This record gives sequence, C-alpha cells and structure tokens, in this order.
Amino acid sequence: MRTLDSSVSAMTVKPHPWTEKVGFGIRRKKPLTGFLGIFSCVILTILAGFAVSCGGNSSSSSTTTSTTTVSSASLPCDNYASAGTPCVAAHSTTRALFASYNGSLYQVTRSSDSTTLDVGLLKAGGYADITSQDNFCSGTYCTITRIYDQTSNKNDLTVEGGGGNGAADVGVPANALPVQAGGHQVYGLSFSGGMGYRNNSTKNVALYGDPEGMYMVTSGTHVNNSCCFDHGNAEISGDDTGNGHMDSINFGTECWFSPCNGEGPWVQADLENGLFQSNDGYSLNSSNTGLTTPFVTAILKNNGRTKFALRGGDAQSGALTTEYEGSEPVTSSGYSPMSQEGAIVLGTGGDNSNGSIGSFFEGVMTSGYPTDATESAVQGNIVSVGYDTSTTTAGTLAVNSEISIQLTSTGLTDYYLRHQTSNDTQIVASSQLSSSSASSDLSDATWVVRRGLADPTCFSFEARNRPGEFIRHYAFILYSQPWDGTSSHAGDATFCAVSGNAGSGYSFKSYNYPQKYIRQYSGGGYVAGNGGSNSWDDSSNYNQDTTFNVVNPLKP
Ligand code: AHR
Ligand code: AHR
Repeated sequence: MRTLDSSVSAMTVKPHPWTEKVGFGIRRKKPLTGFLGIFSCVILTILAGFAVSCGGNSSSSSTTTSTTTVSSASLPCDNYASAGTPCVAAHSTTRALFASYNGSLYQVTRSSDSTTLDVGLLKAGGYADITSQDNFCSGTYCTITRIYDQTSNKNDLTVEGGGGNGAADVGVPANALPVQAGGHQVYGLSFSGGMGYRNNSTKNVALYGDPEGMYMVTSGTHVNNSCCFDHGNAEISGDDTGNGHMDSINFGTECWFSPCNGEGPWVQADLENGLFQSNDGYSLNSSNTGLTTPFVTAILKNNGRTKFALRGGDAQSGALTTEYEGSEPVTSSGYSPMSQEGAIVLGTGGDNSNGSIGSFFEGVMTSGYPTDATESAVQGNIVSVGYDTSTTTAGTLAVNSEISIQLTSTGLTDYYLRHQTSNDTQIVASSQLSSSSASSDLSDATWVVRRGLADPTCFSFEARNRPGEFIRHYAFILYSQPWDGTSSHAGDATFCAVSGNAGSGYSFKSYNYPQKYIRQYSGGGYVAGNGGSNSWDDSSNYNQDTTFNVVNPLKP
C-alpha cells in the first residue's frame, strides 16, 4: 500500500495553463546593419579559412587563433556559412559551433555567494571545459544564468523575465544533465516548468517575412504536453502579439491541432497561436509519430512568405526525415507573410507560457532558408559528436559508472530497482529481470552513477535512458525525475553509500533524511526508517530490504 506520510503534502504538478489571447501588433524597424554584419562575418570567416572567430562574447571574439590549434572539421555554423545561410545566433553548453570559436559558452551563478563563472572550451572549436565549473560549484549549487552567442551578433540568452502568460523564469540547474560529447563529459540544459531564456533585443535575426532556419539538439525522453518548449524567433514584448509573430521550433507532446499521429514528442512549428505540423495545423503525415530517442535533432525553416519545413532525426545516428514541407498555415490569416519580431526564446512560448519541460544541448538560427544538403551536413556533424549518456566503466559504485541495483531480499535477487513511466515515473522493484527480458525493461533498470547533486561525496543515480532524470524521494516514495534546481530537491536526489545493513553490498542513506535508507517494500521503492509511520518503515526484513548489490548494467 502506498500512502503519503501525513507530514508531507501529496505530490502536485505545477499548473501552467495556456490561455489563448487575441494579439495586437507591436512592430519595430528592421535594422539596416543586419545584412552587412552577417556578410562581413561570412567574408571574414571565408577569407581567414575559419581562423577568425565570428564569436561575439569575451575577449576572444576578436582574437585571431593560430591555424595550428584550430580544428579542421566544419562545425554546424561553418556549414551554414559556406552555404550562404550563416548563423545569426549559435548557443550551446556542450561545444563550439564554429571551428574557430574559442570564447565562453555559458555563465553559471553560484547560490552560496551569487558570484559568476564563465565556462569556456578545452580548445578552439572544441568541447566545454567543465572542470572549473565543478570546482566553483562544489559544496553548493549553480544555475546557468547566461548562454553566450557564438556569433559576432552577441545575441546572448539570459533568464527570461515575466511575460504575458508566465511569471519570471529561473535558470536551469548547471549540472543536472551530464552527458558525453566528443568523448568529454559536458552538461546540457535540463528545463523544468518555470525555466526559460530569452533575448528581446537581438541583432540580425529574421524580421517580418525574412527567411530563416534553425535547429536544436534536444531529448525525446524529457518532454511534456504543456506549452511550450520552444527554440527560435519570438516577440520582443514577451507577449502574444498575434499569428505569425513567432517562428520557433517546438518539441513536446502537446498536440495543438488534432489529429496528431502516435504519442510524440513531435517537431512542430510554433508560429504563434498554434503548434503546427502542417499548413492545416494537424499532421498530414501518418509516419510522423514522434521522435523518442534520448538525443534528437529538430529543425524548422521558414522562407517567411510561402513555405516552411519541419525535419528531425536521431542525433546519435542516421539521417534527417522531412516531416513536412509546404505552404504556410492556412488555418487563419497572419502566417503569410510571417511577422517575426526577432527576439530569441529558449524553453518557453512566445508569451512566456512556461509549463513545458525539455532538454537543450545546442542550437542555431540562420539567415536565409538552408538547403536540405546543408542540414544533412549539420546532422552528420552532430552525429559525429557522439552525444551519449554512456560511460567507460560499468558495474561499480564510481562516478560515471553504469550500474543496475539488485535486491538482496530472500527470493528477490532477480529483481532490480527500475523506473516505470506508466507509473508516474515511480521507482519500482516489481520486475523480475533476466538477460532475456524486454530491452526496454532492462534499460529502465540501468542507472548512471553521478556525483551527488547535494554532496559530491555521495551519489545521485541518473536514468540511463532518460538523460537528466535522477532517483529522488518525494513523500518518501522514489521517483525518476529531472532536478528542478532547488537545494531541497538536490537533497531528495542524493544518497550516501554505506556498507549494506545486512552485512554485504550497499545501503543508500538519504542525504536529507539520514535515518532513512532506500528500501524495496512490496514491489515499490522508498526511503524508509527502521520503524516509523509509513507502511514501508516496517521493521521486519528492514536490513535485507535496504541492502542492494551494485552490479553490471542490465542494458549496457
Ligand atoms: O503558439 C503557441 C503559444 O501560444 C505561443 O508560444 C504563446 O505565445 C501563445 O500562448
Ligand atoms: O520524501 C520526503 C519529502 O517529501 C521530500 O524531502 C520532499 O521533497 C517532499 O515533500
């Protein structure tokens, strides 16, 4: 029986209702400098053989980097530039998006003293150097407060303020989505509701019917059906100013125009007052059932006047699929021509509707409508990064090791702790698993050992197949959930390993309730005391039920 402890409130889901509003026009003049700025950046890049960074922030933006240290690989913005559709904004917490870029990727702010640190690259054109961040944030926690634009436009993203349909957001936790990229450990952005970034005063971003393209690398496992996990062009007012005033990729399971096919999550176009899968709004493509892989490439391009396209694929392998390419929406007026306002949004809707969750690793916006061939080259480069949650070690209680957590209770040694999405992501121990079990079940019982979110000497356990989700307790019941960035949640998701209470293996003490240990009880996962008010605090079999073996991952 699973009853809530009387001292804690039942789990609630933050409501972030979307309400449709009638827009009103806000316009700004299109700057003449735009084209010149892009043009000179492209020319400089071409002339210098990518030795001059188009990067816009920090002292490195105007630094000429020795060609001997510059990667020869064409990174996404090099591909877009050489095809004549250059990046006008490029954001990533994991890597450079120009081979020449050697500036900062993002800024973290430490909760203990509110000081900041810029996180840069291991080398020009390389991957994030997270060592300084880990040292800076050790013993406290950090959020990401600025994502630097790697183009010379300096279209940096900062934490989004209040909008027409959402209170001011907070930054994402800085280390809640550790992944491998290029063989290095780096951090992605893990958004819970109420988190988002924006820039309402950009340079050179498409305006009022200009053509543009964009992509983001996101995740198909951390999504919901709330409005609106977006990346792209939005209103400069932070409010809904009418149809066509946005042009953003949306990724999630919100089916705005029925019917949608499958369960999603889908790559959709948030063109304001609708998440479009086609010119009719709803899906015209029966094979577009969603992209569920842990890493997803999502693409939107829009020529601003007559057509838009939605494309997507697995960011770990293979090619892109075009889900839709055709005329602008005909559902109502205002989408042809488009009326983009040129703000950049990440993680919320145009009016800051911020009930959505999602992940972000990298993304750009371009000037011009990129060709499919250019996007294929970009996808090839993304795949070559080897985004993964996987690690090099297995079966041991060491940071980055992949493990499964086996029960030791009598008669239950072929049971393991696993998450179960059909059960509100609750951690259960009810599956009897063997090598012949369904691959998805084995995967759900595989965890990556991480430094403890609240204490680096303890551990957090990240779901192998759901990057950014960690075992945490809530009302003393275990769930697999993304960290929301609060210190209380970090404590709920941190466990300190001690010798097994039954004399072998391990027991996992709750960081913030140190008298309670992870326990299996009647097929469920809990934190339990040896005697107490919850049924799972039952003293009988306590030591054995709180003792686990750390074993090789069931699904490597
Ligand atoms: O178009 C969907 C959403 O509707 C937009 O993101 C938001 O501005 C409005 O609420
Ligand atoms: O699991 C016990 C407590 O329940 C957690 O610390 C808290 O997040 C929730 O109220």
